[in-house]
Parts: sequence; structure tokens; C-alpha cells
Amino acid sequence: MPVRQPIVSVLGHVDHGKTTILDYIRGTTVVEREAGRITQHIGATEVPLEAIKRVCGKLVEGMKITVPGLLFIDTPGHHSFTTLRARGGSLADLAVLVIDVAEGLKPQTIESIRILKRYKTPFVIAANKIDRLQYWIPQRGKAFIESYQTQTDEAKEELDNRIYDLIGDLYKQGFTADRYDRIRDFTKTVAIVPTCAVEGEGIPDLLLVLVGLAQKFLEEHLETEEGPAEGTVLEVKEERGFGKTVDVIIHRGTLRKGDPIAIGTPHGPIKTRVRGMMKPRPLDEIRDPRERFFPVDEVSAAAGVKILAPDLEGVVSGAPLRSLRGMSEEEAEAILQSIAEEMSINVELVEEGEEGVMIKADAIGSVEGLAYELREAGIPIKRAETGDVSRRDVVEFGTGKDPLLRVILAFNVKVYPEAREEAKNLGVEIFEGDVIYRIVEDYLEWRESKRVELDSMSRGEITYPGKFKILPGYVFRQSKPAVVGVRVLAGRIRKGQRILREDGRVVGAIKSIQVEGRSVDEAKTGEEVAIAIDGVTVGRQINVEDVLYIDIPEGDVKKLRDVELNYDEKETLEQTIQIKRKVEPFWGM
Ligand code: GTP
Ligand code: MG
Repeated sequence: MPVRQPIVSVLGHVDHGKTTILDYIRGTTVVEREAGRITQHIGATEVPLEAIKRVCGKLVEGMKITVPGLLFIDTPGHHSFTTLRARGGSLADLAVLVIDVAEGLKPQTIESIRILKRYKTPFVIAANKIDRLQYWIPQRGKAFIESYQTQTDEAKEELDNRIYDLIGDLYKQGFTADRYDRIRDFTKTVAIVPTCAVEGEGIPDLLLVLVGLAQKFLEEHLETEEGPAEGTVLEVKEERGFGKTVDVIIHRGTLRKGDPIAIGTPHGPIKTRVRGMMKPRPLDEIRDPRERFFPVDEVSAAAGVKILAPDLEGVVSGAPLRSLRGMSEEEAEAILQSIAEEMSINVELVEEGEEGVMIKADAIGSVEGLAYELREAGIPIKRAETGDVSRRDVVEFGTGKDPLLRVILAFNVKVYPEAREEAKNLGVEIFEGDVIYRIVEDYLEWRESKRVELDSMSRGEITYPGKFKILPGYVFRQSKPAVVGVRVLAGRIRKGQRILREDGRVVGAIKSIQVEGRSVDEAKTGEEVAIAIDGVTVGRQINVEDVLYIDIPEGDVKKLRDVELNYDEKETLEQTIQIKRKVEPFWGM
């Protein structure tokens, strides 16, 4: 059976050299034409076998290469590659993780590693910019293993040290890694290939490892059958003279001009027809061709292609595309069904009525990525969807009771000013950014400090446990209201709270609290104060030496379990619950 090219995504932190590596392989200078030299979009490049052989030279002489080439996807460093999703997994068969050897692991690197881990995508590391290391003299186009032999001992030692550091850092992320030429079992160890992208040094080794991995581990997976195409939308783009177009990676089958196709949108699949297809010149970039695209009538997996079609409204990055060529009504219906399923967000939400945070992200893949990290951190999710944060989101979400979960986590989306305004009003906290795990970390950090704050602040909203004793000799008034001197034995007592007797009866409420003739709202453990109690008479409902409790509303019991209580408060809460259960056996459960 014929084998298609593996789809290889190139990812890593901004500026670590992803585009430069591809430029060298292509023999192009895309980097120089990029605005600000930053990759803004995702692009695809087909590298045919001859090009691989040309770059690798002696390194692959005599090697039997069965893959017909590699299809690289360059991703912007500041963008997540989670849009590159197919059937709930990764669109990429393999990945190159580019790390600046002098800088080591950066936020986007760690983000990339987490995504690779989650999708179980095999990857190789390009430890790039080795020419920046002291003593190293790069050699243009040479294989790393060749160049290494010719370096001085100091240069070798410097490089070895950097690689060891990298291995250590990767270990902390849960991966065993080693320099590629020292690895015996590529299933257990991640290969590190030292490279200097600007000179092309080490690039032959990088391609060799990629081809090796593909042939060893993906052969079956890469077998393609003839048949209608399956693809994933990389980007939707307005193209001068053509209107809306979609850049698509075809990962299975063949797409022909005129094919009826179905594409997913958040509002359900749409059906349209391929009016035309364009490819960039071989070895050039789909997102930035030096010359114009050229039209094609047919493409086969794996390939990057720009599709012209009417009615592309609503199509988003990451959406699945299927050709419906030659299908019966029923077959087409089944395909539409599966597209709808793929477009639905696969995130575990809390039950109706329970509380959790809200996720907004730029693509289905990133919603799921964020949800994954939150789940790992044990945070419940109430809503998860794609799109910007609107005022409506905030209003709908602002009714949650738990301030620690009244939170919107926003990845790579806009937060509208009205939404921000409303969030302030409703006490909804918004965490945003373009690194998933950072957003989660920010939230967790905030949550910790918020907890402490709530502990000292929210007394008014939550009734805290409290216990006090009526002191003998300090009955100032028998009734209407009764005024007695008390000592707070544990927790705190507050104006307005109702009083609970040890037998479970609620008797009166605290009308006021006084300390040395001054009115106060609250008294704490150890304090001796005078309190006025409405609705009781000393000697009837209450007596000198009685120990009384603060009556806690049942709804507050759960909240109290979420805030930090000290030992005495916890004990008093438990006692209060036991007292309440004398009357209502399942109280507070
Ligand atoms: P984004 O797409 O913005 O995430 O960046 P990128 O990872 O594609 O990096 P890019 O290829 O644009 O390279 C960033 C800068 O590093 C450019 O100025 C490159 O010339 C430089 N660079 C890349 N590789 C090397 C290398 O091996 N050695 C040295 N000295 N510079 C390099
Ligand atoms: Mg780039």
C-alpha cells in the first residue's frame, strides 16, 4: 500500500528558530519577509524525498527511504498549535520541538511539551543556535556528528554541558532524552539533535531522525487508501480576487476540483463545493509564496492546499473537512454526523446546579487543552466554549455563588471592554493569556490569596461558627432585650446572628454588642463583651453559665468547608452541626 508523507509540526518558543530551520531545508528566506520576523500564521511546506536526500547527503547514502517526503507545518511561537487537531487527536504525526540551546525551556516550550504529551505525538528536539555557544565553529550544511568530531575539546565540553542541562530540564517535564547519536531505543528516549539553523548544521541529522522515526513507528499509520479526502482547516483567509478561502491540510485520501465537501462550523456542518484549488510552488510556503499559487485539479494526502469555495461563512481554524464525492445520501449524512461530533467540544462539565469555572478559547483544541490542564489541577468546569469574552458571558456567569469559581479563563481571545466592566461589577475574575498552563497557574495563585482574603473579609456574608458563655454576676437586664456579659469561647459572634442552645433550639438573636460602652459589630475568641439579646428572658430560655452557639444557616456549612477555619472554629462548626442534628438528623449533609 502506498505511504503518505508524515505531517510534521514544528513548534517551540518564539524566536528559537522554527522558521529558520524550515528555510534552510527549503532553501528559502521566509523569515526575512515576515513582518517583524515573527511568524503570524500557520504554514505548510511539502519537502519531497529528493530535497531530503539533497540536504542529508552522505548521511542517508544507502538508506532505504520509504516515505515520499515530509509535510512540515510551521507554527507561530506565540500561538498554540492546539488548532492542529484531527479526530480529537493531533493532526501532526510527528513534531520537531525547537529549543534555543542557550535559553533552554521557556513558557511556550513547556506549553508545547504538554500538548505533545497529551496527544502522545512522537517528537524530536532541535537544540538550536549551537553557534552561539562559546568556542563552537559551525560548518555550513554539515551533519552534526561530523562537525562535532572537528570541534575543539572546549567546544565539545561546552555543548555537552548544555545538552546535559537540557536533558535535566526535560526530565522534570517527564521525558527521558539524550543526544540522538547516543540513543538505543527511540521508543523510550526523546532524541536531541544539536543544530545551527542559519548554517544548516545538524539539519541533515534532524531529517534523518524524522525519517527514521516515521519509518519505524508510523509506517502502518501512514498507509493511505484511495478515497474521498479528509482534512483539517488551518486557516480561513480573505484572498484578494478570490474572497474567502480555506487553507487545509489533507491527511487522507484525494480531493478533486468540483468535489462536494462538508466542513464543520460551531453551528453545524456546512455543505459546499470545491470551486478551485491552489498550491504554492513546490518547497514554498502555503502562507507566503514568493510567486503566486498555481492551480491544481487534484491533491492527495498529505498535502497543504488552499481551497476556493462558496459559502464558507462560519468556518473556523481546526474544523474538519470531508469530501462527499460519490457518496449516497445516507453516507453523506453519516459524514455530516461525524463532523458535528468532531466539532463538539469534548470537555467534562460539572452537573447541573453545581459550580465551576468558565473557559473561553480560540479553537476547539485549545478549549480542550485548557480543560485538560484544569482537570489535572482538580478545578471543576461549568462551561467551555470557543469565542471572545462578551458581556453576555459575564452576566450569565456572574450569578455563581462561589467567588473562587466565579472565574473566566480566556485563552487567545478578546475580552471586550463591556465584559471587563461588567466583570468588575459582578465580581467575576478573568484570567487571560496565550500560554495555557500560565493561565492556570495565575488562577491557582489568585485562588490561594483570595482564600485568605475571604477568610478575613467575608464574615458578613458567611456566618462563622461561634460559641460563648453567659458570665455569672453580669446580668444587666432580664429581658426586652436581655443584656448579659459573655465570654467568647471559640470562633466569633456577630450582631444580627441567631442564638442556638445546646439542645438544638434557636432562642433569640444578638441585637447589639458592647465593649466598655462602645458598640461593635463582632467579638472574637477570648473577648468579654456585653450583648443584648432579643426575644429571651434570662432565667427562662437562657441562664447564667449557659454555653450558647451561633446558629449557622445550612447553606453556609458548605462554604465554611471551603474557607480556611482555624482549629477552634472547625471544632465549633462540628459541634454546631451535631446540635442541629438533634432536631434535624440530616442537617448540613
Ligand atoms: P516565531 O515564528 O516568531 O515563533 O520565531 P521562530 O521560532 O520561527 O524563529 P525564527 O526562525 O524567526 O528565528 C528567530 C531569529 O533567530 C532570527 O533572527 C534567526 O536568524 C535567528 N536564528 C535562528 N536559528 C539560529 C541559529 O541557529 N543561530 C543563530 N545565531 N541565530 C539563529
Ligand atoms: Mg517562525
